[in-house]
Amino acid sequence: METIKDSGASGLDLAIEEAAEASIARTVQAVQAQVNDQRVILGLSGGVDSSVVAALLSKALGKQLTCVFVDHGLLRKDEPEEVQQLFTTQFDVDFVCVDAKERYLSALAGITDPEQKRSIIGSLFWRVFFEEAALIAQRTGEPVKYLAQGTIYPDIVESNGAVKSHHNLVPFPEGVHFDLIEPLKRLYKHEVRELGVLLGLPASLVYRQPFPGPGLAVRIIGAITAEKLVTLKNADAIVREEIDAYNALLFDQTGVRDSEQSVWQYFAVLPDIMSVGVSNGCRTYERPIIIRAVESKDAMSAKWARLPHDLLARLSSRIVAEVAGINRVAYDITSKPPGTIEWE
Ligand code: XMP
Repeated sequence: METIKDSGASGLDLAIEEAAEASIARTVQAVQAQVNDQRVILGLSGGVDSSVVAALLSKALGKQLTCVFVDHGLLRKDEPEEVQQLFTTQFDVDFVCVDAKERYLSALAGITDPEQKRSIIGSLFWRVFFEEAALIAQRTGEPVKYLAQGTIYPDIVESNGAVKSHHNLVPFPEGVHFDLIEPLKRLYKHEVRELGVLLGLPASLVYRQPFPGPGLAVRIIGAITAEKLVTLKNADAIVREEIDAYNALLFDQTGVRDSEQSVWQYFAVLPDIMSVGVSNGCRTYERPIIIRAVESKDAMSAKWARLPHDLLARLSSRIVAEVAGINRVAYDITSKPPGTIEWE
């Protein structure tokens, strides 16, 4: 998370902002010169990087750009609606939402190996995306020449020797070719966020916590089902609501987003076990939710967040009371290393 002081803009801030505005103008001109009147498509994931590319290219290309949002059903609660709302009202682009939820569920049915999940999700994304590109070419009567991507500098570095596969660097299938537009590929994450703010993206999106490309699929341990996804989304929404409020309180007190105690990444995990509980005098046999909350700067190492006990107590009682099928809440107190941030 970035350090953002709440003070007014200084002369230096203004100079930096002017330099960034000039850099946006140069990028817009360069893209216009490269693309001319050709059609461009972009896969919008709802994350910071692809959203910033969409906002940037909307300036350069307007409706010549088609943003394709593949709704795989693995985003967090309400996120697909938020993406749709943002890019259909605030930005002047051609926006297509592909409902692929059922396709993903059937492709992932019975799959328990995390890397197999990642590989299925990545390759299905491109299959759905390329099918949509063909439909766009039919609808508009023009071939799609360019593919814009939200690749940033650390993606390129991480892909050499990565522990987990990276979705941005998937080769095209045979017979498919696009020229690439990657306007963020020399930028670090904090620079991408600064650009997002200047382009008018909401702070909730620009400063959102990291979220894995394979989404909730790697937070459901074992096989994925529609019911488990609903359970996890509901529990995760409570974790986000409570820890968002906790982080906002710290931000108000310190004026700094990444104060010592603030939480960098936080979410719910649904493990593949059941345990006994008791509710209204009756025995229950249901699933637990695991809360993961870490402090980190770059995800390379992380410390489990020392959340206040009253916050943990509120999380536990809300999740058990509000989420059907959950009778127990556990808190993960493992740092990275030896744990990873995600469970899969
Ligand atoms: P780990 O679990 O390796 O995660 O400690 C480090 C950071 O990377 C995110 N992560 C992913 N991001 N695709 C992504 O785009 C993935 O498959 C993936 N796996 C983990 C994780 O959320 C954390 O911020």
